[in-house]
Amino acid sequence: MAAGANQEIGQLGGKINGIPFGSGVKSGHRDFPFGTSGVCMHFCPTFLRQYLRERRLSARYPGRQILTADIHETASLGAGCYLGRDVEIGRHVKIGDHTYVNKNTVICSGEIGRFCSIGYYCQIGMYQHPLHRISSSSRLYGDFSVLPGKKPFHEVARPPVVEHDVWIASHVHVMQGIRIGTGAVIAAGAVVTSDVPPYSIAGGVPSKVIRKRFDDRAIELLLQSRWWERSPEELAQWEDLLTSDDWQGKVPEEFLRRR
Ligand SMILES: CC(C)(COP(=O)(O)OP(=O)(O)OC[C@H]1O[C@@H](n2cnc3c(N)ncnc32)[C@H](O)[C@@H]1OP(=O)(O)O)[C@@H](O)C(=O)NCCC(=O)NCCS
Repeated sequence: MAAGANQEIGQLGGKINGIPFGSGVKSGHRDFPFGTSGVCMHFCPTFLRQYLRERRLSARYPGRQILTADIHETASLGAGCYLGRDVEIGRHVKIGDHTYVNKNTVICSGEIGRFCSIGYYCQIGMYQHPLHRISSSSRLYGDFSVLPGKKPFHEVARPPVVEHDVWIASHVHVMQGIRIGTGAVIAAGAVVTSDVPPYSIAGGVPSKVIRKRFDDRAIELLLQSRWWERSPEELAQWEDLLTSDDWQGKVPEEFLRRR
């Protein structure tokens, strides 16, 4: 077995033909090796717990597609949103209507608007550790502290805001305190350390604006339309416009009128 191949699993774990076994496999892992009865016995309860939790969450949030069990009870999920496998949604996170979040993304804190598309393996509004104390160790504060006082540290001081119709590509990290404007695109692999204006494409480490998506007039019209606030039924009458590859300069007045 290659060195480091086994980082996800505990001391007693290993891999047979690439399939993990033994203690410490992450609870979200679903590739269980059912071929070996002892191993099966070991993992079934975790699998069932996870499955039942997912079912309970789907019942709690009807009309959403939820393929993960890791949603904090204080989070809110908008209508028609989709959460892929092993997505984690943290405390007080708000997700707007018709937003999808792809596999293995973690949203620790923040507010996400409507019709956003969040790619694979992103991290948004992750916890901060104290920089001004003697140690940054998370074992020196809060519930898991080794010290008796268990004094808290506020790990989420500034949840980020992602406005509407934002596409965050895969492997993007969005820092706390950041605002990503409506219609923006964050390129794959970016680390977003500064605000991103509406309808611009930002990428890199640290992220910089690469270009604007449309000219200023088109951006103004789109922001004025607030189309993302309309229901799918209302949007259906604008299907030709919304799916046109050549719409600039052709936005009808009715589309711009706010409800
Ligand atoms: C950003 C993106 C959308 C392309 O935008 P674009 O404006 O068409 O980009 P272009 O290919 O014309 O490149 C424009 C510039 O951006 C740079 N660029 C493109 N992608 C970049 C990235 N991920 N990170 C940093 N810079 C990037 C290019 O190098 C180029 O720079 P240059 O002008 O100095 O040569 C695309 O590169 C991307 O990241 N797609 C994400 C795919 C993905 O993760 N999908 C998951 C599905 S959810």
